[in-house]
Amino acid sequence: MHEMNRRGFLKVTGAASAATLLAGKVHALVAAQDEAAPVSANDRIQIALIGAGGQGQYDTRTALQVPGVKLVAVADCYDGRLAHCKEMWGDDLFTTRDYNEILARKDIDAVIVATPDHWHKQAAVEAMKAGKDVYCEKPMIHLYSDGPEMIEGSRATGRILQIGSQRVSSMVYVKARDLLAAGAIGQLNMVTARWDRNSAIGAWDYTVPPDASPVTCDWPRFLGTAPKIPFNAEHFFQWRKWNAYGSGVAGDLFVHLFSGTHFITGAMGPTRGMATGGLRYWKDGRNAPDVMLGLFDYPQAFNLSLRVNFVDGGSESEGLIFTGSEGTMEIAGDSVSVSRVPRAKEPGYTIDTFTEAMQKQFLKQYRAKYPIVHPEGLPAAQVETYVAPDGYSDSYDHLRNFFASVRSRQPVVEDAVFGFRAAGAALLSNLSYERGTVVGWDPVAMKLT
Ligand SMILES: NC(=O)c1ccc[n+]([C@@H]2O[C@H](COP(=O)([O-])OP(=O)(O)OC[C@H]3O[C@@H](n4cnc5c(N)ncnc54)[C@H](O)[C@@H]3O)[C@@H](O)[C@H]2O)c1
Repeated sequence: MHEMNRRGFLKVTGAASAATLLAGKVHALVAAQDEAAPVSANDRIQIALIGAGGQGQYDTRTALQVPGVKLVAVADCYDGRLAHCKEMWGDDLFTTRDYNEILARKDIDAVIVATPDHWHKQAAVEAMKAGKDVYCEKPMIHLYSDGPEMIEGSRATGRILQIGSQRVSSMVYVKARDLLAAGAIGQLNMVTARWDRNSAIGAWDYTVPPDASPVTCDWPRFLGTAPKIPFNAEHFFQWRKWNAYGSGVAGDLFVHLFSGTHFITGAMGPTRGMATGGLRYWKDGRNAPDVMLGLFDYPQAFNLSLRVNFVDGGSESEGLIFTGSEGTMEIAGDSVSVSRVPRAKEPGYTIDTFTEAMQKQFLKQYRAKYPIVHPEGLPAAQVETYVAPDGYSDSYDHLRNFFASVRSRQPVVEDAVFGFRAAGAALLSNLSYERGTVVGWDPVAMKLT
């Protein structure tokens, strides 16, 4: 059975339904509605981008679809990216290697920080001190000490700080949260999530441009607080592979699974975590493992198990499965499915090791107490799938939510506390892997224990 609900999902139900695509684009629909609402000149938000690589360019392209947003400046440490930004957004775009020149400009209201992780805290805090609102990419932190500084930076300056885990604004995750709260799978006991990849690009081997050199790359500025080493183009363009700049698979990918799990369940975070892993396949000089398995305790709530695997011989996939007492809920791509496997209400029996006389006696009493309810066996499993419309973009919704807060000064959907609780939980994995021990975390106080 197919039915469309008010919020634009395609709902598919049946004994073993497969998700089907829906024509029409919510992203386009929302954008069209947004465009219909006029934005006055006073409401125009002028933005700048700090860190114009893959995600920075994507975030900016998406941000510019939100009505009333104008890009005026870009900072990056590689000249080729600044040149490409001018190709995309016009020659009058102000570009610089030094983001302080952007922060000094009075005509910029907000910045997108999409640098490597080791720059997030410094760029975000300096931007807020300069009076800018900030959309800072995930993972919020690179070091645990970054968390309190960013939270305090936002509080003390009164600037808006939103972290860039777009799933927190996703209609799919909102649906999953609502289904769980409505008891769709009974009591939640366990969450398992995975991110399996099977390609060099998936394993972070991003392209190094042929002109990469200390002339075209501002190497000292890229390094920032990282250990000083001679220019290395791979470190510059494939920084995720080294822990001095990136935060491993945990900071890159577990963090999305944590922010999704926290958003859907309302949990603040685990109280302890342990992870194991290894550098199994991509032995190319990197020091971040390519396989990681983590286990996390959410006391009195559920257990969480996460996996990232960059050497998967099978198909790539990413998703979360929530296991409850009455069924399971799975998020895969732009869909969420609930599956309920009917379970007999009677307790059942294990009597065949008893004497025949005893078996007869038992069965007589048992059937008197539990009459047969389903003479033809239990009904088939029921699956309900909700599919977001084709072309739906949670990144658009996340940026749209950010700019709405910039205008209204109301709280953002993903503040620094939420961002720290997700990234702080994720980075327990790196600590546990390095130390070979279980690591404790106080998710309320946001401190290692
Ligand atoms: N939300 C998501 O789904 C998502 C997806 C991909 C990446 N990200 C995050 O976005 C961030 C950037 O990732 P990416 O893949 O775009 O990396 P990237 O290497 O493609 O881009 C980073 C850019 O930052 C520039 N840079 C480095 N130091 C700088 C500095 N001090 N000032 C200005 N620019 C500087 C680099 O020159 C580079 O162009 C990371 O933190 C990553 O975790 C988020």
